[in-house]
Amino acid sequence: MIWLDHAMLARRLAGLTRRIAARTRPWTEYRPGHHLGRLRNVSLFVGEWLRGPGSVGAVCSSSRWLARELASHAPIGEGLVVELGAGTGIVTEALLERGISPGRLIVVERSEAFSGHLRRRFPGVTVICGDAAQLGTLLPQGLRIDALVSSLPLRSVPLTERHRIIEQWERTLDPDSALIQFTYDIRPQTRTCSCDQAFEVHDSRIVWANLPPARVLLARHAGRRQPPQ
Ligand SMILES: C[S@@+](CC[C@H](N)C(=O)[O-])C[C@H]1O[C@@H](n2cnc3c(N)ncnc32)[C@H](O)[C@@H]1O
Repeated sequence: MIWLDHAMLARRLAGLTRRIAARTRPWTEYRPGHHLGRLRNVSLFVGEWLRGPGSVGAVCSSSRWLARELASHAPIGEGLVVELGAGTGIVTEALLERGISPGRLIVVERSEAFSGHLRRRFPGVTVICGDAAQLGTLLPQGLRIDALVSSLPLRSVPLTERHRIIEQWERTLDPDSALIQFTYDIRPQTRTCSCDQAFEVHDSRIVWANLPPARVLLARHAGRRQPPQ
């Protein structure tokens, strides 16, 4: 009888994807859309998913249509645009294509492998390897945030972690800052994250061309809660 140890299999596959990523050339050496550059991104993504499925929260990266829909809500202004959970950078790329200047864009990504990849791929963008649950301590103080673009897998992280992340959003965002988040729960929603009544949805649209289809929510502060005693 063949006995399959799932943890060992996952480790082996993660090792294989890392070797593929290491043997293909750095992403920047491929022109955008080149199949080897894409293979590198896919193997990096799958490798990170095998190491921490709950933390990555999706088996494959967002589609370019989802990325463009997310980016389309980011205002072209003077303040910062902060992207949370950038993975291999599909949304980062869409934000830059939208016209957000690299100097206004800050990316916060918890995985070291993704962060290293993002720094190489987007040299002009500030990439912070850190936890969105500590956002306030990671960002430069005193600068206005126009938009927070989140790909965080809020539905697959423990509730306490989700609350800590949303608490940071409440602290760091102004009442008129935009919170842009996608969710695989495509039912219509009036509040984000379905756990905390902090943010009110102003616009929402389903992107069908994504695996699985996702709903993009544009939300703003629904009024500040009392700070915890
Ligand atoms: C669903 S993937 C999205 C990746 C990419 N933005 C996309 O759309 O394809 C979620 C990303 O969030 C990152 N992440 C998860 N929890 C995080 C946290 N607490 N702080 C920062 N990044 C986190 C994961 O490492 C992963 O890269």
